[in-house]
Amino acid sequence: MNTSVCTPDSLLTQLQWRYATKKFDATQKINLDQWQALEQSLVLSPSSFGLQPWKFFVITSPEKRAQLLSHSWNQQQVVDASHFVVLAIKKDLDEADVERYLARMAEVQQIPRENLDKLGGVVNSFLDKLDSPLAKQAWSARQVYIALGFFMLSAALLGIDTCPMEGIDPSAYDQVLELEDLGYQTVVACAAGYRAADDGSAQRLKVRYAQADVITYL
Ligand SMILES: Cc1cc2nc3c(=O)[nH]c(=O)nc-3n(C[C@H](O)[C@H](O)[C@H](O)COP(=O)(O)O)c2cc1C
Repeated sequence: MNTSVCTPDSLLTQLQWRYATKKFDATQKINLDQWQALEQSLVLSPSSFGLQPWKFFVITSPEKRAQLLSHSWNQQQVVDASHFVVLAIKKDLDEADVERYLARMAEVQQIPRENLDKLGGVVNSFLDKLDSPLAKQAWSARQVYIALGFFMLSAALLGIDTCPMEGIDPSAYDQVLELEDLGYQTVVACAAGYRAADDGSAQRLKVRYAQADVITYL
């Protein structure tokens, strides 16, 4: 069954329309319906084993956003965009996180928790092989970037602008947002809203390698 909601042309139009927005119109806000759909794009993002080693912090406080600005290379998107999300990974991912996930799976899929013992063993032994905290952080961060991609693409399809932001100081973010106490660690951020009419970057041609240079059939 074809459940497509857009054509190849309309998809490409939105992919071309999207760009990393440098200047947001601070007066334009994303409406609630659209924002809720964007939140779902984060919730529904896939992750390895489905483990979801993340949390997404929506920074609503103008004061906090002003504080984050100085830890973001002074990039004004942090304060001007309608919404600002900090994508974080769970610190010290361990068996308790796997157990939490299995309990959730048992609840949602209405199956006895014991039926998931084997899956739990597989996931735990995979995590054990990531034998350093750094390796676990890198694995978790890879999952978070998938969520970032889902969020940005969903926004583009809704006609909402975004700017993914690695130009931030993650540990300073953790301090300002007190994420350490919550057991999370900043990876990347994303501003979302509407481009300012005079954002010159909107007109800049995309610099991409040719299709034949990045896609190879073997
Ligand atoms: C993970 C990631 C982090 C980025 N960090 C920043 C950033 O801090 N500030 C910024 O203005 N652009 C940032 N960018 C935007 C890239 O520079 C931009 O996506 C790239 O140059 C391609 O341009 P386009 O997205 O406008 O097509 C980031 C992009 C990605 C994917």
